[in-house]
Amino acid sequence: MQKIIRTRAEAADFAASVRFSGKTMGFVPTMGALHEGHLSLVRKALQENDYCVTSIFVNPIQFNNREDLEKYPRTPERDLQMLEEAGCQAVFMPSVDEMYPEEVNEHYDFGHLDKVMEGAFRPGHFNGVAIVVKRLFEIIQPHKAYFGEKDYQQLAIIRELVRRYQIPVKIVACPIVREDDGLAMSSRNMRLSAEDRRKAPQIYQTLLTARQLAKEHDVAFVKNWVLETLKSIEGFEPEYFEIASGETLLPVNHWDEADTVMGFVVVWLGGVRLIDNIELRRK
Ligand code: PAJ
Repeated sequence: MQKIIRTRAEAADFAASVRFSGKTMGFVPTMGALHEGHLSLVRKALQENDYCVTSIFVNPIQFNNREDLEKYPRTPERDLQMLEEAGCQAVFMPSVDEMYPEEVNEHYDFGHLDKVMEGAFRPGHFNGVAIVVKRLFEIIQPHKAYFGEKDYQQLAIIRELVRRYQIPVKIVACPIVREDDGLAMSSRNMRLSAEDRRKAPQIYQTLLTARQLAKEHDVAFVKNWVLETLKSIEGFEPEYFEIASGETLLPVNHWDEADTVMGFVVVWLGGVRLIDNIELRRK
């Protein structure tokens, strides 16, 4: 039976006992409504460590949109069952008061990393992510922590957070897990209507075609083609499509400006915000 932990003190005790016994701990931070994408992180953590701790906390301070926070799916019983089946030994499920007993007024500045793409369209989002992840690392003190490449920019910011504050945790990146039809798994997918769910895989299909086009066309052409294609699909409202360096996340104008060039996209579909990315070219 997995251990369910609700307070910081209990979490710190559990973590200390694991460390004291000379065992290693992998940590998977989540906001719940778990799916195979989250479980792939848990499985990787269990492959590489003796223990896995998963946190489930819908972090209010990383939502720049009230409605998104209110509508964020919450399925705690199902989540616990999935984690139990995956073999995760402990789940940290704190309340908002437990995580934020006092007013929060930390401000992080990650330079251009938190200004482009998600940073530009979701003001304050990465500040909220950095605050919660730093607190979680301090409470749990894992050896390694697992993050999905689906939130590629978040991963870059966490790496920078760890580097800047010299937090002794190794960050492990995990590939995007997709549905059979290519749609990137997301807790938000369950909010799509049946019709929108059928259309949603066209995001990834467009990215795959973009990767083909990137072999023989320039950056401006591919960028324009993706935006025009997405706009032409009934119900799709692309928020951005950026072609940027996979290392610095800065936009590129030519394929040879970075070792890895990625395409990053956000599409609104029926009031649901869907995010995805793809590697377009590699040197
Ligand atoms: P959440 O959206 O629940 O995602 C938790 C972790 O699962 C993140 O590292 C995310 O990148 C990863 N993930 C989600 N869908 C995935 C998929 N289809 N394939 C691979 N990995 C996937 O990201 C957050 O929560 C929060 O911002 C958090 C880091 C927990 C801070 O509150």
